[in-house]
Amino acid sequence: RTVYLNGDYLPEEDAKISIFDRSFLMADGVYEVTSVLGGKLIDFAGHSKRLERSLNELEMQKPEVFDDLLDIHRELVRLNDIDEGMIYLQVSRGSAGDRDFAYPNSDVKPTLVLFTQSKPNLADNPAAKIGIKVISIEDQRWGRRDIKTVQLLYPSMGKMMAKDAGCDDAWMVEDGHVTEGTSNNAYIVKGDTIITRHLGTEILNGITRAAVLRFAREAQMKVEERSFTIQEAKDADEAFITSASTFVMPVVTIDGAPIGIGTPGPVAARLREIYLDESR
Ligand code: PDD
Repeated sequence: RTVYLNGDYLPEEDAKISIFDRSFLMADGVYEVTSVLGGKLIDFAGHSKRLERSLNELEMQKPEVFDDLLDIHRELVRLNDIDEGMIYLQVSRGSAGDRDFAYPNSDVKPTLVLFTQSKPNLADNPAAKIGIKVISIEDQRWGRRDIKTVQLLYPSMGKMMAKDAGCDDAWMVEDGHVTEGTSNNAYIVKGDTIITRHLGTEILNGITRAAVLRFAREAQMKVEERSFTIQEAKDADEAFITSASTFVMPVVTIDGAPIGIGTPGPVAARLREIYLDESR
């Protein structure tokens, strides 16, 4: 695989960064994941805008090549011959050559890394026909989940708790209300209404979420952006998640309780179809 590191396209085994890099020592970095379908980037503009916001919120320098990121993404798709898959991008505050809690001076340049992940069945994911099983766990992440940082230890732990329970993912719950999945936004459907948590510092402003809500409204479906309890989710007619890596994915059980009749629901199926049609 050819990857990108600070201006160079390199074989992955030659791409090396400092042990003092602040992403490594302090999780002082932000990231984006953009999907590729038919060799085409999905919603690059949305990801680029959110990256800029994450950098601003953390007072992190923009990489000098920020305005060339689209070209860099496209070049990696070409070099790695990606038809379906993802591009991962990470910016870290860089390395000042030692460990220090204070941010380094502005002459320390950010580290920029991109790599591709080929996923031949991203659109035809068989899981979309079966649906996924989730467990609920307490949300123990920090309070700025609107910033897409690389502090992913708790979401990783959540994924492992789900696996240990024979499930696929975890929905995180704060004060009885669902925030989001480990790496996706959470939705329920009650009657003809799609319900998903309102934006704020408690969740990530999903790029897929924005597109799906726009398509739902265009299709005259009812949307409520508000928080919902885990109990409301268990009593819902349908549940699903969205993200750049899953698009729209039905959820069929929560903590072992079937949602609706325990099979993927029509609203999730329709939204997945619309999303894939509109994005390709
Ligand atoms: N995760 N919420 C969280 C906590 C996420 O990590 C993500 C994305 C989302 C969905 O955002 P988007 O629709 O922009 O992908 C919501 C990526 C895919 C990841 O960590 O791999």
